[in-house]
Order: sequence, then C-alpha cells, then structure tokens
Amino acid sequence: MSPYHDIETVLISRERIRRAVRKLGHLITKDYADKRPLVICILKGSVVFFSDLIRQIDLPISVEFMTFSAYQGEMEPTKSIGLVQDLSRSIENRHVIIVEDIVDTGYTLHTLIGMLELQNPKSIVIVALLNKTARREVEVPLNYYCFDIPNEFVVGYGMDYGKEELYRNLPDVCVLKKEVYSNDHQG
Ligand code: IMP
Repeated sequence: MSPYHDIETVLISRERIRRAVRKLGHLITKDYADKRPLVICILKGSVVFFSDLIRQIDLPISVEFMTFSAYQGEMEPTKSIGLVQDLSRSIENRHVIIVEDIVDTGYTLHTLIGMLELQNPKSIVIVALLNKTARREVEVPLNYYCFDIPNEFVVGYGMDYGKEELYRNLPDVCVLKKEVYSNDHQG
C-alpha cells in the first residue's frame, strides 16, 4: 500500500507551482525595485513556499519568521489566534511582505496585520500561495496570490494535516481524502 493512502489527488502540480512562484517573484522584484523589503515567513506551513519565493526575488531583502497557533473550541464561534514566536527585529519604517501558505477563514492574517500595524511599518502586503475564498469569514487584503482553490483540505508543499503534522514534504499541493478529516476538521 502507498505510504500516501490518505491522499485523494494532486490539485496543483510542482511544475505549475514552480511557474507561478517564478512569476510572482519577478512581479515582487519589479514592484519593490527601490525598497529593500522585509519578508516575513509564517511558520510552519509557508516554509517551502517562502524558501522558493525569496530565491525568485532579485533584490536585497531581510527575512523574519513568526509562528501562530490557532484554536477553535466547540463553544467559540470564531478562531482565536495566539502568537507563539515573534519577530526578532523592529519593522518600523520597513516595507513588509507577509508570506502565508493559504488564506482560509482570514483570522490569522487579520490578527497579524492588526499586530504589525502597531509597529508603524511603511507598508504591509500579503502574499499567499493559495486562496480558499469559500471559507472566508473576515476580509483580508490579499495583494498577491498564486492560485484560487475550492473548499477542500489540502496538504503538501509545506502544508500539513493532523497532530503529527504530516505531508509537508510532498512536492505537489494535494487534496486529502474527505473521510480522513471529515470527523475532526472542516464541517
Ligand atoms: P485562517 O486563519 O483560517 O485563514 O487559516 C490559515 C491557516 O490555517 C493556514 O496558514 C494553514 O496553516 C491552515 N489551513 C487552512 N486551510 C488549510 C488546508 O486546506 N490545509 C492545510 N492547512 C490549512
């Protein structure tokens, strides 16, 4: 049996991702030509996208890392987002680019932007690999993204499933079989 028997299908192949990331990197290079942006990786899901993307940005950039935890209890209508690992430098007066794997309900980025704006950056934009609009609950300004996806749970290219955080290493974005997550994730 395949070690990946929880995977339904490949949604976005590594080749499509490679082309989209290259195009996005060139666009950011053009848009930030005179700006020396500070690029923030939201761990852990964005790590693969981030490391591919920054190598397509042909500019002097700084990089930073942040980690959040999300919790949605049975009695809570909305997710609460907690900061686990903060930035190691100030973003005051910097042009900030946030790199996220997927925008789902929008709560993570909504919370993050609120926090970062308090530090008076010159500008903040969001870059995401995937946009899952069907599940959006709060508006976020998604300035750059690569792919719209349907309301499926995806893994691979950095994104994981479950307590063991499996499948981040898959090179393609894949759809997880519904029966795997229907009891404990999305309704
Ligand atoms: P949001 O706060 O609901 O927008 O959630 C964003 C975070 O939820 C992402 O950074 C992912 O870590 C996680 N997430 C949302 N949808 C998926 C998915 O389909 N696969 C894997 N992780 C997901």
